Amino acid sequence: MGRLDGKVAIVTGAAQGTGAAIARLFVGEGARVALADVRDAQGEALARELGANADFIHLDVTRAEDWQAGVARTSERFGGVDVLVNNAAILLLAPLTQISREDFLRIVEVNQLGPFLGIQAVFETMKRRGGGSIVNIASTDGIKGMNGVSAYASSKWGVRGLTKSAAMELGRHAIRVNAICPEAGNPNMSAPFMPGNPDLSEVPHRMMQAILKSPPHVGPESRVLDVARMALFLASDESLSCTAADFVVDAGLTAGQFQKLAPSA
Ligand SMILES: NC(=O)c1ccc[n+]([C@@H]2O[C@H](COP(=O)([O-])OP(=O)(O)OC[C@H]3O[C@@H](n4cnc5c(N)ncnc54)[C@H](O)[C@@H]3O)[C@@H](O)[C@H]2O)c1
Repeated sequence: MGRLDGKVAIVTGAAQGTGAAIARLFVGEGARVALADVRDAQGEALARELGANADFIHLDVTRAEDWQAGVARTSERFGGVDVLVNNAAILLLAPLTQISREDFLRIVEVNQLGPFLGIQAVFETMKRRGGGSIVNIASTDGIKGMNGVSAYASSKWGVRGLTKSAAMELGRHAIRVNAICPEAGNPNMSAPFMPGNPDLSEVPHRMMQAILKSPPHVGPESRVLDVARMALFLASDESLSCTAADFVVDAGLTAGQFQKLAPSA
């Protein structure tokens, strides 16, 4: 028996990275999944690989008409929508003083408006089906600050506010809304902003500076899988009393600073 048997999910940004891991895990746990993305070739290839319980939909999360068409197609093909994972996002790493109005708005449009439009789009079908679960992928940059991410962090803090407000409004329809704040994702999301566009998948991630040391047998891909497993928990009926909450998956990165001069075990 799968943990998502009978459920239908839309996962945005599912062509690669965290979204692909979530889609893969969901199908493995018995869900029928619409993989939504703007990367058509990658998304279609993954949907083909995952089989008859997966469907690729071209969906730009900033376009309300794409949301309408995507939800309609998913409802026709799979009968409705029980789970929405708002995962699609873009990153901008730049000094605050060099971010244009257009660039700032583009980040907010994809990362913050996108999930908002998604919640609006799935509301009626979830309500008709007696409830649902919406999982918004925020970030540890939505909990703290960091240099270089003023636009991105603004959007991710916004996602957490949206999560709590939407949970307040939709709870009476048995729709739960939660946020996941991961530290890790596709390591190459930040590569285009680094000198020389390095392949960061081989570089020890900044998670290594977190308080929790990974056992030696645990590789970088397990960090993304942990995010996917948290999404699975929140999508499933194992978390029926969880709503309006942030679920931090960061190996303790945001817990505080380790003071080397103070005593420690
Ligand atoms: N990469 C990290 O280190 C990291 C850390 C914390 C949180 N996150 C978050 O995890 C989530 C997944 O990111 P990832 O690391 O897998 O990065 P990624 O770049 O591999 O995946 C993002 C996906 O979103 C898609 N996308 C972008 N714009 C879109 C749009 N307008 N409409 C539909 N799809 C669109 C992309 O095509 C891509 O497939 C994001 O919300 C990101 O902010 C990432």
